[in-house]
Amino acid sequence: MTKTWIPNLGSQDGERLSGRGSDSATVARAYDAISATYDYWVWQNFWRANEQPILAPLLAQAARNTCLDVGIGNGAYVPIHRSLGYKLSGLDISSGMLEQLKMRHPSVPAVLGDATRLPFHEGRFDTLLCARVLSHLSAPVDFFTEAFRVTTRGATILVADLDSEHDYQSISFRGLKNPRSPIFPFKHALSEVLSAAEAAGLTLSSCRQFGYADLEWKPPPHQLPALDRSSARPIFYVASFRHN
Ligand SMILES: C[S@@+](CC[C@H](N)C(=O)[O-])C[C@H]1O[C@@H](n2cnc3c(N)ncnc32)[C@H](O)[C@@H]1O
Repeated sequence: MTKTWIPNLGSQDGERLSGRGSDSATVARAYDAISATYDYWVWQNFWRANEQPILAPLLAQAARNTCLDVGIGNGAYVPIHRSLGYKLSGLDISSGMLEQLKMRHPSVPAVLGDATRLPFHEGRFDTLLCARVLSHLSAPVDFFTEAFRVTTRGATILVADLDSEHDYQSISFRGLKNPRSPIFPFKHALSEVLSAAEAAGLTLSSCRQFGYADLEWKPPPHQLPALDRSSARPIFYVASFRHN
């Protein structure tokens, strides 16, 4: 069910769904607590198998010079950035995740900061990646405004996240050492995300939603019971924007 995005969610749905997210301090503490064991989380296997093969060719098509990975976590995308020859910088709100990043990839400049207040000067990057961070932000437009500011004209901005149509209400790190209570996402409808990017001055290049039938790795039900296996709804989306 790979499909090019069709505007099928009204803003009313978006407003109803996006009202209940955890604040950024709570999100940072939750990631700090599980940072050492994050790679053992079954969802991380899911993203490695299903999201990375989609984003890697998009990263390869981009400028391949300077890249900012916003919400870099422990550096899941670093091997891909490296293989493409990017001069990479990473930013994350969780000091625990950044410690893991530094242990694995000590040469990557790692900055503690917020996706909505990027501590970089104008036009610094020609590629920007933001994988699964928007659902932690109350107002995606704040991120896109910053993404526009810190990128150069012609830059590519790649965004991926769980789709708001997927039936999940919280993110719980079950099975990991030191999990905290679940954190709550902001379920922004894809239409809201695209409008926010446009409002910040970015132009949509491509956007796709991916459902169960599209998955490279279909995890068995006992591993990810909450996954929507009906293919009726998208599970995640990947969007590419241009700073014109
Ligand atoms: C689902 S993880 C994804 C990590 C990484 N992008 C990957 O692909 O593995 C989300 C990451 O975003 C970070 N994050 C959450 N809210 C943030 C914010 N407001 N600003 C910067 N990073 C944030 C978290 O600390 C976490 O490392």
